[in-house]
Amino acid sequence: MELGIEGRVALVTGGSRGIGRAAAEALAREGAQVVVAARGSVGVDAAVAALRESGARAEGILTDMSDPLGPADAVARAEAIIGPVDILVANAGGPPPGRFVDADDEGWDLAVQQNLLGTVRLIRAALPGMRERGWGRIVTITSTSVREVIDGLALSNATRAGVAGAVRTLAREVAGDGVTVNNVLPGPILTDRMRELLSSQPDLDAAIAERGARNPTGRVGDPGEVGDLVAFLASDRAAFINGASVMIDGGESRVVG
Ligand SMILES: NC(=O)c1ccc[n+]([C@@H]2O[C@H](COP(=O)([O-])OP(=O)(O)OC[C@H]3O[C@@H](n4cnc5c(N)ncnc54)[C@H](OP(=O)(O)O)[C@@H]3O)[C@@H](O)[C@H]2O)c1
Repeated sequence: MELGIEGRVALVTGGSRGIGRAAAEALAREGAQVVVAARGSVGVDAAVAALRESGARAEGILTDMSDPLGPADAVARAEAIIGPVDILVANAGGPPPGRFVDADDEGWDLAVQQNLLGTVRLIRAALPGMRERGWGRIVTITSTSVREVIDGLALSNATRAGVAGAVRTLAREVAGDGVTVNNVLPGPILTDRMRELLSSQPDLDAAIAERGARNPTGRVGDPGEVGDLVAFLASDRAAFINGASVMIDGGESRVVG
């Protein structure tokens, strides 16, 4: 299937590892020009080098989604380097695990800045240009916790729900301007984030296998599978998919809808 995004400019935050990097790779395979943004230069440089090696036009920028000025600065720099952002993938690391009763104001503030306000600020910076040009695709990366909370991930559960509500609201406001806004809800995906969350287990490989065994598919997901979903939602073909929260969890959630 031709996705119709050849030459489009994509900005992928949290794009140096895991799901973000897989999204950047999938978009690049479809011919998009990709700007990879994250905090660490080593990861950004490695991701950009791999993308270029595959023949893509790719650039890297350093940004921190939890910095109030970071998201707008990332959009401005991406546009200065390559051109107007057509496709925005709003992603960052997840908040630290913990129960509701354990999180203090500082923890809440960081999670809200990084995972809720960071997404809002990023969208606010890229959206006016998309509307003016009459074409834009925004994909946020959250979690299946939007549908069904995950024990021990209080900060994540709360901030993802905020993003989902914002996406649903915005989708209706921009639908007439050729812009779509959708939300991807990954289940268990084998990335550094999963390895970190399982790092207290004595045998990491066994813990990953055990996590996979709890999924109906018998395995955990691959970041590339999420990347392909992101690329489709960002495509010209997905013009009528708007305001959706799309789960990609191998059928693990029992929630209907
Ligand atoms: N993996 C899963 O099973 C799973 C399931 C549900 C939801 N999710 C969510 O999906 C998102 C991506 O997960 P992942 O597993 O791909 O995570 P990951 O492997 O930890 O990768 C996170 C990426 O985001 C960057 N990043 C982290 N904090 C950032 C910040 N403040 N500003 C800019 N970039 C930042 C990281 O690079 P730097 O550290 O260099 O900045 C890295 O490129 C997270 O929000 C995660 O909670 C993941």
